[in-house]
Amino acid sequence: MSPIGSTKIDSEQMQAWLESPYDTESVASFKAGPGIQKLQLKFDIDKLQQCYRDMQHQLEDLGSGFHVMALTRRPGVEKATPEDNCGRFWTRVDDSYTEFPRDVMVDESAYSEFNPLFAGTYLAEVYTQLIARFPIGRMRVLGKDPYNCNSWHRDPEPRLHIPIFTNPGSLFIVNHHCTHLPADGSVYFTDTRGYHTALNGGEDSRVHIVAALPYAGQQVSDAQALGNKD
Ligand SMILES: [Fe+2]
Repeated sequence: MSPIGSTKIDSEQMQAWLESPYDTESVASFKAGPGIQKLQLKFDIDKLQQCYRDMQHQLEDLGSGFHVMALTRRPGVEKATPEDNCGRFWTRVDDSYTEFPRDVMVDESAYSEFNPLFAGTYLAEVYTQLIARFPIGRMRVLGKDPYNCNSWHRDPEPRLHIPIFTNPGSLFIVNHHCTHLPADGSVYFTDTRGYHTALNGGEDSRVHIVAALPYAGQQVSDAQALGNKD
């Protein structure tokens, strides 16, 4: 079969693309887009970073370059179970493009207790400010090693991200929009009901506070997800 397309059009397009300006600067800053926004709320990044240094001995190694510190828990559950560190997501894993459910559905609203390990710290102040504004489910400090990325998936509910330590090679992608999230105390809304991943392509660990936003009636169910399949 001979190639499809016009030699003239392809070569002219290539010339135009080569003559277009290319960008190497804006990727080192935040760019809002569909599914990723910055809130007005802002925290003290120096206090966040110091608090993390003081508490990082509580970080649990989940393997595969992931680390977690649970800031909220189900009331009275002192030791997190494996189920507390996963949760339902949907993903397309192969060239069939078929969507598969993974893990179990988690009732985010059950994570209503702030972990007393962090009482009196700046992390508690962050939690107080968040719950004054939003329903908050699992709220965790998540560490991501260099050259690490999450699966390409979607979740039942959106997330808030508060970067504590990052680098310009740490990116968040929701559907077709990709941006760096600077660690300057900013709080970012990520609509993780859309397809997304986070990656750390830098040489240092990336550390974010991540909080689920379980708005009543807004969580995607299995029935909805399956209904969207075709
Ligand atoms: Fe996710």
